[in-house]
Amino acid sequence: MSFNVNLDTLYRQVIMDHYKNPRNKGVLNDSIVVDMNNPTCGDRIRLTMKIEDEKVTDAKFEGEGCSISMASASMMTQAIKGKDIETALKMSQIFSDMMLGKEYDDSIDLGDIEALQGVAKFPARIKCATLSWKALEKGASAEDNGKS
Ligand code: FES
Repeated sequence: MSFNVNLDTLYRQVIMDHYKNPRNKGVLNDSIVVDMNNPTCGDRIRLTMKIEDEKVTDAKFEGEGCSISMASASMMTQAIKGKDIETALKMSQIFSDMMLGKEYDDSIDLGDIEALQGVAKFPARIKCATLSWKALEKGASAEDNGKS
């Protein structure tokens, strides 16, 4: 018998697991709040996060959207929690490069996020996958502006 693990199948299972069992679903009080929507479909996400001493101490999301957008938000919040904001933004850049099919910096372990790399082959879905990351970038810049 052959146990030829199909990476696409494995990745699909990781995506569906995050979609059906989202990590960090909900809303944080006393936090940065960012609302983003995907203009091509109208789906939306609300990201709430706390940044203390340049570190993302907590992050949650809620919203409505396709499996890719919701799974990506779940993976994103899981990935950035506990990271310093600089690293979180670097991950966002890496993810963006991955979605654009560019060479990307692999010095940071992306964990489950790697499961989304196949989305790069479907340009119409890239906005779904990057929605939560755009929210992160907007939230981080709001935090920056609040300081100055
Ligand atoms: Fe709307 Fe994916 S189809 S976010």
